[in-house]
Amino acid sequence: MVDLSVSLSGLTLDNPIIPASGCFSYGREFADLFDINILGSFSFKGTTKEPRLGNPTPRIAETQSGMLNAVGLQNPGIDMVVKNQLAYMDRYFHKKVIANISGFSIEEYIYCTEKINNIEQVGIIEVKISCPNVYGGGIEFGTDAKSAAEVTRAVKAVSKKPVYIKLSPNVTDITEIAKACEDAGADGLSLINTLLGMRIDIKKRKPLLANKTGGLSGPAVFPIALRMVYQVYEVVKIPIMGMGGVSSAADVIEMMMAGASAVQIGAATLKNPYICKEIIEQLPIEAEKLKINSLKDIIGVAHI
Ligand SMILES: Cc1cc2nc3c(=O)[nH]c(=O)nc-3n(C[C@H](O)[C@H](O)[C@H](O)COP(=O)(O)O)c2cc1C
Repeated sequence: MVDLSVSLSGLTLDNPIIPASGCFSYGREFADLFDINILGSFSFKGTTKEPRLGNPTPRIAETQSGMLNAVGLQNPGIDMVVKNQLAYMDRYFHKKVIANISGFSIEEYIYCTEKINNIEQVGIIEVKISCPNVYGGGIEFGTDAKSAAEVTRAVKAVSKKPVYIKLSPNVTDITEIAKACEDAGADGLSLINTLLGMRIDIKKRKPLLANKTGGLSGPAVFPIALRMVYQVYEVVKIPIMGMGGVSSAADVIEMMMAGASAVQIGAATLKNPYICKEIIEQLPIEAEKLKINSLKDIIGVAHI
């Protein structure tokens, strides 16, 4: 029997499959479709200090082999998430979850981390650093190594949980940001977030998204995500959660061979809500075909 278990900063997961943030809400709707306890874990919707309505619509556009989204971090705010979602999550999910937090200032990241610290069911804090720093001239935290390190240091100083920094792919050299986060104390990294893209409605002669631009995800980005996971694995020692366009068991194995210790699945979940279940069922079959006894053995094997 193939051993599917993997480990992230002392947390053992039954398998490496984790629905990605923003594509699985807080899990409740999916729990009506299948027993979500088969998952390794899941990363819940990115949460900010204040409630956010997100961007005006239209904020989703289809593309060939992918999708654009400009949801704009719609969420009820960390206090409501703690009160209305996390307080009841253990009724339908009995494993540790990943808390995805966002912020527009260092203080906001610290606030959210302190709120999450006391939630027993949270195993890992995943820090999305793709937001503009409103007090730092509007530059995204995630596109500047110094700012990325600053967020990492601030969150690590208050966090009681392992901290994974979620990297933006919209940078010239992702390894520089990854290294800066590791040096600042990150316990792990998640990559990639969406790639900045755009579409135009040629009949209206206007951008399709009200926000004009949006984040591209889905199968189209898989080779880019894989390349970035591969490059980052070469320069850091901390574990990586790989994501971006993963939609099959073979993709999961490929992502792990590039260096991912666990694999998140986003857009594919929106297209087929059962995809994570199907991949978990398919993984041992695919692994056996490739003579893999334990998934832990293949992490980073593609590196010479
Ligand atoms: C509709 C939508 C909402 C998302 N919301 C978040 C979010 O709140 N926080 C975050 O870190 N990533 C968010 N993401 C990014 C995904 O978690 C993931 O990093 C990205 O989509 C790449 O994976 P995929 O190609 O499998 O979708 C969102 C993606 C989509 C499609």
